[in-house]
Amino acid sequence: MSTKKRIAIYPGSFDPITNGHIDVVRRAVRLFDELVVAVGNNNTKNPVFTVEQRLAQLEKTCGNIPGVRIVSFSGLLYEAVKTYGAVAVVRGLRAVSDFEWEFQMALMNRELAPECETIFLMPSPEYSFVSSTMIKDIARLHGDIAPFVPPAIAEDLRLKFAAK
Ligand code: PNS
Repeated sequence: MSTKKRIAIYPGSFDPITNGHIDVVRRAVRLFDELVVAVGNNNTKNPVFTVEQRLAQLEKTCGNIPGVRIVSFSGLLYEAVKTYGAVAVVRGLRAVSDFEWEFQMALMNRELAPECETIFLMPSPEYSFVSSTMIKDIARLHGDIAPFVPPAIAEDLRLKFAAK
């Protein structure tokens, strides 16, 4: 039997990380020896938080989970897969509406790198409607986002969107 560490990569924008993402992290670490949570440095998305802020948020909320490593990556995901020696890409699938884009992305990644397998994990149903985009919209309008993100992230959002 191989003693090689089985590593998976969980890429995302994490702008910001939500309780749904953390649920996926907790499920994925049970399946692999190491889970590399990788913040995509993707300028096309116009993020609210910088990569450095998102890395700090991930450290605060997932950094103490055994088996989790937190990194950022630029460029193509399959290159990060190779860099970290991952055997799988992990993505969360909340609802059927996520499926089409995720399916396309998984197949494109496999086309670009045949060894790049994607596995989908379903978060707990209580998070099936939680998205970073919605959280930011609510926070921007000073609504209550406490049920959907860890307290440290709620505070970051409060400060980000505090009335000037
Ligand atoms: O949390 P998100 O915004 O759904 O994450 C998207 C992410 C970072 C996983 C995706 O944008 C990505 O993989 N970017 C890297 C660029 C890439 O590899 N593109 C080709 C495959 S679609």
